[in-house]
Amino acid sequence: MTDHYTLAETAAQSILQRTPLRPRIGLVLGSGLGSFADSLTETTKIPFREIPSFSLSTAIGHAGQTVIGKAGSVPVAVMQGRVHLYEGYSPQQVAFPIRVFRRMGIRAIILTNAAGGINLTYKQGALVLISDHINLQGNNPLAGPNDDRFGVRFPDMTHAYDKSYRESARDEARKLGMTLHEGVYAALLGPSYETPAEIRYLRTIGADLVGMSTVFEVIAARHMGIKVLAISCVTNMAAGILDKPLSHQEVMETGERVKTSFEALLRAVLPRMENDPDTAVQK
Ligand code: HPA
Repeated sequence: MTDHYTLAETAAQSILQRTPLRPRIGLVLGSGLGSFADSLTETTKIPFREIPSFSLSTAIGHAGQTVIGKAGSVPVAVMQGRVHLYEGYSPQQVAFPIRVFRRMGIRAIILTNAAGGINLTYKQGALVLISDHINLQGNNPLAGPNDDRFGVRFPDMTHAYDKSYRESARDEARKLGMTLHEGVYAALLGPSYETPAEIRYLRTIGADLVGMSTVFEVIAARHMGIKVLAISCVTNMAAGILDKPLSHQEVMETGERVKTSFEALLRAVLPRMENDPDTAVQK
């Protein structure tokens, strides 16, 4: 079997040969948050099915394409949609697009997701910077033999969510007059939403948000030295808080409602990440 490094390299080349742009920043857009990609200029759109070794997203609300384009003057590579563990994909398949990003020359990523709000100070529609995570998915994309070409066997996760990017995001949110919270994201397997008892447990162990994505992507990114900014949209308060059932419909509708401010924040943060000296170095 061909190794993941070679597969990622092949996929990266197949994307790069279709665009003259050479982005150093990648984005992954979560459920209901994909429309940012529609606002880019000079775009090349590549359906996931046309990229070698890419898995196809089955979740509603995930377009399933890579868009290379410019956000203002900043070239970006966008995954409009992602695959999840609950779809039956392996942790390596979930993390694969991030490895492709790295082979494309990406040095920093913005991950977005829809999440349930556990922290009672959050409201539906709130945007939350992820400051740390708790991996409760029972697996890890780095499990198995380590490929040293990606990174070390035991990667540090102390500073997984880059502090200076978070500062930049807070700064830009302030300028835009937006409230931006900060919190800890717990990732569960899904696809069933949590029970109220599980939410009380998650609050006790220090989680502010709950979702079914992002963490494997962060682990794979840090393994390769990619810097990470991650932002959740609280599409619903977590189970048991408001005494009403949770639905994917509600998740999508909230994403739609906040997309204008979410996109404004992304657009404001990107130039600051582009000017980060770490991002500028091509390795
Ligand atoms: N739980 C898990 N994942 C989610 C939720 C939730 O309440 N909302 C959006 N994604």
